[in-house]
Amino acid sequence: MVEFSLPSNSRVQPGKTWPAKPGAKRPKKFQIYRYDPDTGANPRIDTYEIDLAECGPMVLDALIKIKSEVDSTLTFRRSCREGVCGSCAMNMGGHNGLACIKAIEEVPGEAVTVYPLPHMTVIKDLVTDFEPFWAQYESISPWIQTRSPVPEKEYRQSPEERSRLDGLWECILCACCSTSCPSYWWNGDKYLGPAVLLQSYRWIVDSRDEATGARLDDLEDPFKLYRCHTIMNCTNTCPKGLNPAKAIAEIKKKIVERSL
Ligand code: SF4
Ligand code: SF4
Ligand code: FES
Repeated sequence: MVEFSLPSNSRVQPGKTWPAKPGAKRPKKFQIYRYDPDTGANPRIDTYEIDLAECGPMVLDALIKIKSEVDSTLTFRRSCREGVCGSCAMNMGGHNGLACIKAIEEVPGEAVTVYPLPHMTVIKDLVTDFEPFWAQYESISPWIQTRSPVPEKEYRQSPEERSRLDGLWECILCACCSTSCPSYWWNGDKYLGPAVLLQSYRWIVDSRDEATGARLDDLEDPFKLYRCHTIMNCTNTCPKGLNPAKAIAEIKKKIVERSL
C-alpha cells in the first residue's frame, strides 16, 4: 500500500534546551536542526538562548558562539565569513541564505530558526551532501572550450564582451537558489536547477568559448532546462543579488533563435 505520511524515523522531535546565562542583557532564542546519523535517533530541534549583547551581529556569529561556548557538537560549514565562499548556506527563518552575511535582526520571528538547505541529504546537523550538485556542475563542462589555435599571449576580450559576464561570474555556487526551487525539489535528479543553469549560461555567453552549439545541444532537453516554470524563487533567494531565472530565460531564447 502507498504510504503518504513521513517515515517515522524522519519525524523531527523536540530537543534539548540551553537557557541563557543568568544576567543576560539581550537573550535571544535559536532553534537549530540537529541530526546525527551515527546515533540512529530522529532529527530534533535544540534551543539555545544566547545573549546578543555578547555576540556578533550575524547568524554565523551566533552559531560559532554556540559551538565555542555552549555545545561543541553543533556541526556546520563556514570558511570566509564574508559571503564569498558559499560554505555557510543554510535556511534561516524559512529563507535560504548565507549565515555569515545574514543579520540576526533580519530573521523574522521570536526565535531564529536554523535548518539545513532544503531537499538535500543531511550529513550531520546543518551540513548537507553537495555531491549530486557538484556532479551536475561538472556535467556542463564549466571551463573554456576552444578549437582555434591557442594564442601566443592571451585570449582577448573587448570591454563589451567582458561585460556580458557581469551578473554571472559573481555566482559562488552556494546552492541557495537551487534548493529554493520547487522544480528542483521534485526533479533534482534530472533538472539542472538555477545555479548550474546560470553557470552554464556564463560559458554560453563567453566570447572566448567555442562550444556554444554543443552546450545548447546538451541543454535542449525536457528535463535539464525545461523544468523551469519561471516561479522566480531562485532570483528572490540569491544572497548575491543575481538573477538565475533571467539566465535560464536567455538560454531558452538562444535555443529558439538558432532554430529560426
Ligand atoms: S524560475 Fe525556474 S529555476 Fe527559478 S525557482 Fe522558478 S522554476 Fe526554479
Ligand atoms: S545564483 Fe546566487 S544563490 Fe544561486 S548558487 Fe549562485 S550565488 Fe548562490
Ligand atoms: S562563510 Fe563563506 S559565504 Fe559564509
